[in-house]
Amino acid sequence: MKLKLLIAIVALSLFSCKKEEKKETLYPSSETVTEGTASTLTPSEKTGEEIFDGKGNCFSCHKPDQKIIGPSVTEIAKIYKEKNADMVQFLKGEGEPLVDPSQYEVMKTNFAITKNFTDEELKGLEDYFYSHLKK
Ligand code: HEC
Repeated sequence: MKLKLLIAIVALSLFSCKKEEKKETLYPSSETVTEGTASTLTPSEKTGEEIFDGKGNCFSCHKPDQKIIGPSVTEIAKIYKEKNADMVQFLKGEGEPLVDPSQYEVMKTNFAITKNFTDEELKGLEDYFYSHLKK
């Protein structure tokens, strides 16, 4: 009788241990997935992302998939890719607006900032815009 009880307890604790183990392994693996997507950005795309979210302040008018003040990043990337256009040149103030010329004056105000970025930084922004087409 006592032995049976002991076996039952051991079996139960083993079982619950296993369950917890499973939960624990599930957690880190889902975290790895999110980390994985973030780290799939190339160094240049990452530079662009940092500027977009940071000193470039681009995020305040551009969202990934939704038009707010400016067109979405995906829409801009799509049009630039279709037309094989040069975003770096545009951000230097040397291009023509292709996406929404009627709102060009609003975007133009940013050239005061983007003109001071290095070619590497501007290329990073361009690469970051294009990275939205990979998803
Ligand atoms: C004050 C709001 C605002 C901010 C901040 C802003 N944009 Fe824009 N952007 C716009 C608007 C509005 C348009 C649509 C007009 C146009 O197409 O030129 C636009 C258009 C664009 C285009 C498409 C240009 C084209 O050919 O039509 C690119 C590329 C772009 N923005 C990049 C950026 C980057 C990079 C930053 C950050 C350095 C940024 N924008 C910050 C408002 C903004």
